[in-house]
Amino acid sequence: MSKLWGGRFTKKTDQLVEEYTASISFDQLLAEEDIQGSLAHVQMLGKCGIIPYEDVDKIREGLHAVLGKIRRGEVEFSVADEDIHMNIEKLLIEEIGSVGGKLHTGRSRNDQVATDMHLYLRKRVNEFVDLLNKLQQALIGQAKQHVETILPGYTHLQRAQPILFAHHMMAYVSMFQRDIERLQDSFKRINTLPLGAGALAGTTFPIDREFVAERLGFERIYDNSLDAVSDRDFIVEFLSNASMIMMHLSRLCEELVLWSSNEFDFVELDDAFCTGSSIMPQKKNPDVAELVRGKTGRVYGHLVGLLTLLKSLPLAYNKDMQEDKEGMFDTVNTLQGALQLFAPMIETMTVNKDQMRQAVNEDFSNATDIADYLVNKGLPFRQAHEVIGKTVLYCIQNKKFLLDLELEEFKQFSNLFEKDIYDTLQPEQVVNARNVYGGTASNQVLEAINRAEAATQETEQWVEQHMEKN
Ligand code: ARG
Repeated sequence: MSKLWGGRFTKKTDQLVEEYTASISFDQLLAEEDIQGSLAHVQMLGKCGIIPYEDVDKIREGLHAVLGKIRRGEVEFSVADEDIHMNIEKLLIEEIGSVGGKLHTGRSRNDQVATDMHLYLRKRVNEFVDLLNKLQQALIGQAKQHVETILPGYTHLQRAQPILFAHHMMAYVSMFQRDIERLQDSFKRINTLPLGAGALAGTTFPIDREFVAERLGFERIYDNSLDAVSDRDFIVEFLSNASMIMMHLSRLCEELVLWSSNEFDFVELDDAFCTGSSIMPQKKNPDVAELVRGKTGRVYGHLVGLLTLLKSLPLAYNKDMQEDKEGMFDTVNTLQGALQLFAPMIETMTVNKDQMRQAVNEDFSNATDIADYLVNKGLPFRQAHEVIGKTVLYCIQNKKFLLDLELEEFKQFSNLFEKDIYDTLQPEQVVNARNVYGGTASNQVLEAINRAEAATQETEQWVEQHMEKN
């Protein structure tokens, strides 16, 4: 059979052009969605009396047969048929004869491909919300085991104030919660039906877009046919959300890499999630964390790539837009791989409490608390800051930490110091003194864990409600 659009042509397509313009090598990933969309479309054609029901039945049977063959790997797609849409139409016609040619009535590849992409991303968004939720659960699991583990919190990568390890884990839970909410919000735009827009202007056939939307589970329909076929915002939005998730993951990766170094020795990643060196027998490298950190770059690249592709593109469909797919597929793969590995990597991570504690004992991260101590005794904060600055300097010069100082030594700097300063300086006290909403005090962190667990359950329900029905 010749090309589906061959009628107007007198010459064969140049072989190189055929290869250059074909998208079948990558858009075959849309096969399921393409058939899903066609099944709904043809049913609508029947219902609206555009084609007879007996043809509808033949076409539906044919599409199911083609789907079965594709699933079983019995189909060889052809570059000559350019893309997944025409490959499937060709296979359908081979399967049931010329009646298969009625499927494309009232439809264009332009609204068809857009519909496929909406269906495809709709499923992926649900999967990603689910994966993020699992990662949150792994982080919450670590948090629950470490509501008493104290480590130095850092600013400028310098020890700043002691915090609970649980608090640190919960910071990531909050970040991933925002990612979940962003994906959920994007769902309503993804879940909008372009089909029925035709090539760009609508169609002369009396179609029923509501019916198709309903069958495919779309909540809304594009209002403007030009917009329906030109819009790739929903993919940009997905790539942007994916970039944000990768950025968050990369920050956690960086911390895991640092923390598992000998210099920190705060955590140990499970052997199953590390690799060795081909030359240095002692090495255990945090490759997964490094690679996720590294792969963040390609996801950003795909975002910028698509934004650039769409910039200044006139309405409506342009072939440029075929380039929207590979970056999206690669992003889906990259994100899937990262999230699938991350939850178990966090779950199996060992936390070196003692090492963290030692780091807290051997630093000045309780200095703010003595300043606050003097403030509570009536000294203005700025003066207290100055006093403690001098006290710390004295400690550094005498190779001591604040808790090593005698009361007399403290008194050299201020008469306001009393014996109770030693309680104030205990790391537990320092942590629990930050008893404000969102702070690191253990009762606040326990409440944060409760709130997060409730949110996880809500997310689970959302995933359940937004699962594909077919
Ligand atoms: N393979 C094309 C794409 O992915 C499908 C739409 C083609 N439409 C067209 N008018 N050539 O963008």
